[in-house]
Amino acid sequence: MVANHDIDITVRRGSVHALIGENGAGKSTLMKILYGMQRPDEGTIAIDGETVDMHSPADAISRGIGMVHQHFMLADNLTVLENVVLGAEKRHGIAGRARARIKEISDAYGLGVRPDALVEDLGVADRQRVEILKVLYRGARTLILDEPTAVLVPQEVDALFENLRELKSEGLTVIFISHKLGEVLAVADEITVIRRGTTVASVEPGSVNSKQLAELMVGSELPSPQTSESTVTDVPVLSIDALRLCATDSDGTERTVLDEIGFTIHRGEVLGIAGVEGNGQSELVEAIVGIRHPDSGSIVLDGQDITGAPTRTRRESGLGYIPEDRHRHGLLLEAPLWENRMLGHVTEPPNSRRGLLDPKAARQDTERIVEEYDVRTPGIEVTAASLSGGNQQKLIVGREMSHAPKLLIAAHPTRGVDIGAQTQIWEQIRQARREGLAVLLISADLDELIGLSDTLRVMYRGRLTADADPATVTPEELGSAMTGASTGHLDQSEAGADAPAAGGEDS
Ligand SMILES: Nc1ncnc2c1ncn2[C@@H]1O[C@H](COP(=O)(O)OP(=O)(O)OP(=O)(O)O)[C@@H](O)[C@H]1O
Ligand SMILES: [Mg+2]
Repeated sequence: MVANHDIDITVRRGSVHALIGENGAGKSTLMKILYGMQRPDEGTIAIDGETVDMHSPADAISRGIGMVHQHFMLADNLTVLENVVLGAEKRHGIAGRARARIKEISDAYGLGVRPDALVEDLGVADRQRVEILKVLYRGARTLILDEPTAVLVPQEVDALFENLRELKSEGLTVIFISHKLGEVLAVADEITVIRRGTTVASVEPGSVNSKQLAELMVGSELPSPQTSESTVTDVPVLSIDALRLCATDSDGTERTVLDEIGFTIHRGEVLGIAGVEGNGQSELVEAIVGIRHPDSGSIVLDGQDITGAPTRTRRESGLGYIPEDRHRHGLLLEAPLWENRMLGHVTEPPNSRRGLLDPKAARQDTERIVEEYDVRTPGIEVTAASLSGGNQQKLIVGREMSHAPKLLIAAHPTRGVDIGAQTQIWEQIRQARREGLAVLLISADLDELIGLSDTLRVMYRGRLTADADPATVTPEELGSAMTGASTGHLDQSEAGADAPAAGGEDS
């Protein structure tokens, strides 16, 4: 298959250049070529007018090009200093100098990176700043960022854009890939659109709106999203009561990660949880899935107490799970797609029959998922690693929706997917909800949370500190609750005068 052909792109020094396109369009591939990780069969790359031949990332780095990948590549068990220096310095005994240099770079661009922090203790936004610092440390003057904002909440995106402007003002160049067109319009000086491996347009943000950008990406008009009516019933599917979970940090201190968490999700209800990453959402999900064991409290799924049950029992009782880290929990990267279709569901039909694996049925069903979820792939025998990021995500969503779950835990279900596929996934979740599915939705995308949820809760420092009605709450109100600035019921904006009386218990 050809991932890139007839690519034509010119990036000006000291600018932020955005690259957009559908899942599998060839954005990451193009950047890997520029970074020396893949070799083009034809064509040339010129830097400052001079043709260069890039054989490896080391070549690219020596020419001042650095890349932060779609999936982070830091070693968790090492410090920031060790990660930054790893592979860059050959001699020992330079820690002192390296530490000083890291501080210097961090200060120069306002990155706020602490050299001695352990990477595993850092949140996503901090890890990303470490990755950026790492390429700056190696002398990069052009930074390639592959979907840097996919994992960030709005405040973190603003902070990142502040960093990018800082880099730009120092004469550095940033190439930036994103599916969020609003962001692209806000931060880019120029936007190049890729469709099916080819550059189809280069535009300036002032001359287009996000609808026009989307249409350039897909080459046709987009369907407008359906409005949806409430399908919430009073039949509980998931009931969580007084859940408490403690964890020990790497320096030995005890920390309460989940504190008195309690809520119920009913048939036909989507409960959305908003929060800045690292406030306990991941741990809550892991407790429900069975990866972590709570210190106290209970979890009841469809009338059955599963607080101490193994993950497999939970799966078999109707739990679907779209994990936040698709590489660690969602896929076997080196296995073919059809084996990935069985992951987490080996004991269930169609993957097995009367206790025996049924690879033929699994293969057939994988074909169906590829078709229904528009997974762009040459076939089901290729490895999951060969799919583009967004197509990996579509495969996972398709798999988890295929077992008619009673409860779907959806952590960032549309992370990294293009807007066409996003609309499609939302529609699939809504359809299942109409048929009684209960959903716990965790997302950094506030539009997704507000658009998809029937009920909204805000999680802050391990507690559910606020709730809101998705029909009336604004992203700003949610954002402020996410930072702990407001608590309780959030819809004060309309309170008093002519607050709508509708909604409430009997909708
Ligand atoms: N390592 C690989 N081996 C084989 N094919 C690959 C490999 N990596 C990518 N491809 C294929 O190349 C095409 C372009 O993929 P690429 O990852 O560049 O897409 P993308 O535009 O970055 O998409 P996304 O928005 O989903 O990240 C896809 O069809 C993909 O399946
Ligand atoms: Mg990509």
